[in-house]
This record gives sequence, C-alpha cells and structure tokens, in this order.
Amino acid sequence: MTPAHNPQRIRTAVFPVAGLGTRFLPATKTVPKEMLPIIDRPLIQYAVDEAIAAGCDTLVFVTNRYKHAVADYFDKAYELEQKLEKAGKTEQLALIRNVLPDGVRAVFVTQAEALGLGHAVLCARPVVGDAPFAVLLPDDLIWSRGDGALKQMADHAQHSGGSVVAVQDVPHEQTASYGIVATAAFDGQSGRIHQIVEKPDPDVAPSNLAVVGRYILTPSIFDLLERTPKGAGGEIQLTDAIAALLDSERVDAFRFHGTRFDCGTHIGLIEATIRYALDNEKLSDAARSLMRNALDEMGVVES
Ligand code: UTP
Repeated sequence: MTPAHNPQRIRTAVFPVAGLGTRFLPATKTVPKEMLPIIDRPLIQYAVDEAIAAGCDTLVFVTNRYKHAVADYFDKAYELEQKLEKAGKTEQLALIRNVLPDGVRAVFVTQAEALGLGHAVLCARPVVGDAPFAVLLPDDLIWSRGDGALKQMADHAQHSGGSVVAVQDVPHEQTASYGIVATAAFDGQSGRIHQIVEKPDPDVAPSNLAVVGRYILTPSIFDLLERTPKGAGGEIQLTDAIAALLDSERVDAFRFHGTRFDCGTHIGLIEATIRYALDNEKLSDAARSLMRNALDEMGVVES
C-alpha cells in the first residue's frame, strides 16, 4: 500500500495505546490489548492500515514503558527475516516486511502515567506540531468494504475545513458507555456538533449519536487539553477538550459507512473474529461449519 501524498490532507495519525487494558486481564499482563489478533494480524495493524489508506505517513504511537511489544512489532526483525529468506518463504517474508510500507515512519512517545485518553493525545503534541492530525483507537476496529472510516472522514474534513469526529447510532440505554453528541441539522451523514458529553445517563443524553475511536482534530485541541481538568473516571478526557473546542471552531459529527467492533470488550473481539473469518475466502466455509457444529453440540436451538 502506498500512502497518498497530498499536502491538503492529514499526514499524521496518533495511536494512543498506553491504556492498561484491564478488561483483558490476565492476557494484558504481558500482551498489550492492541496486539490481540483478529485472525493473523494484531488490532494495531488494522488501524495502521486504515491511517495509511487515508494518506497518513507519520504514525505516532503513544505507549507506556511496558508496551515494548508494539514497538517491537513495527521494528525490523532481522533474525526472522534471515531465516525466512533462507527457507525460501517469500510470502511470509513479505508479510513481516510490509507491516509498515516504505515512506511511512513510526514515532514512539511515552505516556509516563495513564492519566486518560486526552492526556495521551497531548503527549503526541511535540511530534504533531501545528497541523491537523488524526487519532485512531485501535480497539475500535472498523470493517468496511469500500473506503476505510478515516479516509471517509479525511474527505469530509477537506471540504468542511474543521475537526471531524466519527459517530454511530447506539441503543439509547447504552449512552452511558460513550461520548454522545448533539448536532445542528444532521443530514443523515454529518452535522456540526453543538454539544458533546462524556458518558451521559440515558435520561440526560442529548441524542443516540455516540463517538467512536476516530477523530480528525485541528492543533487548537492541544492548548485546550493543557487546560482540561480530570473528568469522568478521574481521567483527562478528550471529549472535554472537544467540548471546549466547539466554542471556537467547527467540529462535525460524521456517520461513517462500515461496521465498528468494540474490541476492548470480550464480545466485541469475538464478534470481529467471526466477521473477519466469514469474510475470508480461505476460512469462510470452515468457519461457517464449525459455528454450526458448535451450536449443535452445545444444544443451542436455532430459531
Ligand atoms: P480505554 O478506555 O479502552 O482504556 O482507553 P484501556 O486502559 O485501554 O482499557 P480498559 O478499560 O482498562 O480495559 C481508550 C483508548 O485510550 C488509550 C487506550 O490505550 C485505548 O486505546 N489510553 C487510555 C491511553 O493511551 N492512555 C490512557 O491514559 C488511557
């Protein structure tokens, strides 16, 4: 995959991967959540591919001191490459060489303490500088047959000229699990946000439009993050800084085409695995029949 070069478009993508991943303990004692695989690729690879397809060529990983696995994954694996080369395993060799295509650079920044997503984004400031940038949360995996979600957002940002936040509809009773937005004149795909609230109870939620882990932000967000106090969960919330940004700049909600899997939860990871297996030419038939067998053997009656 070759990154698209266009000076108008976002070039830098930030991947905040310094969370503790407590919902996947004990696995995440040693394996970062972002390294959990869907079939044969870790979650982080799907997010990286989506960013590159949207035109990004600078990837900033905000990690913590325990997450060597993420940096190792994007590093060159000399010994493994030599062995595969000697064994003539060219297909596998290409797979490990192509985790990052030529022309794409990876930068690693440490978040010393897990003070929240907003704080993690702020840690990327010295690398991002003074240009609009993307933020992708790799545990939100977005499956799409056409353009990736970030590419769709980047196209939108090019004509809106402001920040863009990915949204999807969620059942009203689930609003307390998301950032929720209210928009002016939502045209079915996008609308300017006039309110954003982190994890509101259903009785006070301004809508069912929930923020998912893709953002295109202008650099104004950094000064606002500097001033953002701890919010929900005692963490510095990106949502709170975006709420402050609404006063001075346009921020659009964008309902992307695609299906989002919340791979930060057990069931979301399972669902994504099933979907990618069913969509995989080599695995689909076997996956279908083993699911049928499992349902039969477990005595689950299909309706
Ligand atoms: P989550 O809310 O999913 O938290 O963070 P988490 O720690 O990863 O997982 P659980 O809830 O304990 O299971 C959303 C995103 O923000 C990043 C995470 O890595 C994830 O991509 N994050 C969160 C940081 O980079 N730093 C933080 O301080 C907090």
